[in-house]
Amino acid sequence: MVMVAYIAAIFALLQLAAAAAIPHHPHHPRHPRAAHEKRQDNAYHAVHLPLLSYNHRIYDPAYLMLSMKLPAILGRAIQITHKSWEIGTLTQALLEVYNPRLAPWAYSDASFHSALDRRTTTPIEAARVAAGFLVNYDFSGAPASGDVDAILLNGTPRALVDGAGSLGDPCALGTATWVLAHFADSLANTGTPLATNEQYAWAVGNQLAYLQAGPRSENGTISQREDHFELWADQGYMIPPFLAYLGLTTNNTQLLEQALDQWLLVSSALLDTNHNLYRHLNTWDTRFWATGNGWMLAGLMRVLGSIEAAGGGLDAKVREAEAIAARVFQALFDRLDGGRIPNYMGAETDPRYTAGDSAGTAAVVGAFYRFLVMRPDLAGPMKGAAEQAFAAVVDKIDTDAWLTAVVDPQGTNGFLVYPDQNTRSPEGQSLLAVMWAARTAAGQ
Ligand SMILES: *[C@@H]1O[C@H](CO)[C@@H](O)[C@H](O)[C@H]1NC(C)=O
Ligand SMILES: *[C@@H]1O[C@H](CO)[C@@H](O)[C@H](O)[C@H]1NC(C)=O
Repeated sequence: MVMVAYIAAIFALLQLAAAAAIPHHPHHPRHPRAAHEKRQDNAYHAVHLPLLSYNHRIYDPAYLMLSMKLPAILGRAIQITHKSWEIGTLTQALLEVYNPRLAPWAYSDASFHSALDRRTTTPIEAARVAAGFLVNYDFSGAPASGDVDAILLNGTPRALVDGAGSLGDPCALGTATWVLAHFADSLANTGTPLATNEQYAWAVGNQLAYLQAGPRSENGTISQREDHFELWADQGYMIPPFLAYLGLTTNNTQLLEQALDQWLLVSSALLDTNHNLYRHLNTWDTRFWATGNGWMLAGLMRVLGSIEAAGGGLDAKVREAEAIAARVFQALFDRLDGGRIPNYMGAETDPRYTAGDSAGTAAVVGAFYRFLVMRPDLAGPMKGAAEQAFAAVVDKIDTDAWLTAVVDPQGTNGFLVYPDQNTRSPEGQSLLAVMWAARTAAGQ
């Protein structure tokens, strides 16, 4: 009986996938902000991403549904992604989905460094998108030759892309740019003009130098803002994973340790130990925001995955971070409402604050499936809740591959969910991919 339903679901999904593959113009009323902000779609109008092979061991129609829709979902992400943190999240998601051997958890040093392996791991999707966002980068002054690892450590402070005052957000694009620093010279036909490996390495080195020169607190916590010290849970996904990925790929234990230290420092500043939830900021929004908690957890999983892939170590700090994560996951899953995590948790009563948020839930569930692989002993008891949340998020993907009922990621009038409006979330689209890749790797 279950099998019959499963097979029926496959046929229904194949039709959906076919429909999603037909390019068409969005016919939704635009979000009111779109008009005055002139948010134009990016140049990649007809985005056709490769279909995905899914993990056959995962016996869940919601997973199958997401597998079929994901290329169209990522196509939508590419259409609406503009802001620095969105760009970083998207390009990392593309690597996780299409090139898992270049992402932390299934990292292969041979795939990253060996010319022979490059043909099988060509990161064409992430490279095309990342290079597209770097076409206006001023590469004058970049070295024409040299060892990219040495170039990385000799940068001059400059952000990769405009962070609109954020020090941390542009770092997230550092991952895919660092991949470009190893693959650009061997890629052809990306449809985007490419700089050289050395130029991209130089740009990442400049970003790293810019981050390291930014404002810090007395105990060394790096600020999320560039002109004053301020902490955001969001930076958990932007800063530590960038440092960790550079550490992993250059065999630099100092960067790996700095990544985990920075994560633990931000955690110490923003975690409310009574509720086991992260505050959004240390200043003007101290409430418990679903997406902020998702950023912290998802960022930690990238850091822990990088440390493990680099051969382990830092045991006491790793154990400390894992114990915190287990408590935060439990606190979030305890609050599921109709399967999703409320946008804000705590004393809020305004329904726009407490409404379930699909984007933040996707971030948390994605992080959870990575945690399940790393620490099944801690994560196992929460598996049922995670499956429920996964299905509830997938249920909010509409027939045009948009994730609905998402928090307004720009925070225009506060970080609110308007369930009746067609708010689009670039990061929400990408976080669906992060969630899919994590579950695919977990195989359950
Ligand atoms: C990484 O660095 C350590 C020393 O820090 C060294 O023992 C090890 O061989 C290096 N691994 C690679 C792959 O270069
Ligand atoms: C580090 O500094 C921040 C900002 O002042 C503070 O909130 C946090 O508690 C400190 N953490 C530790 C472990 O000292």
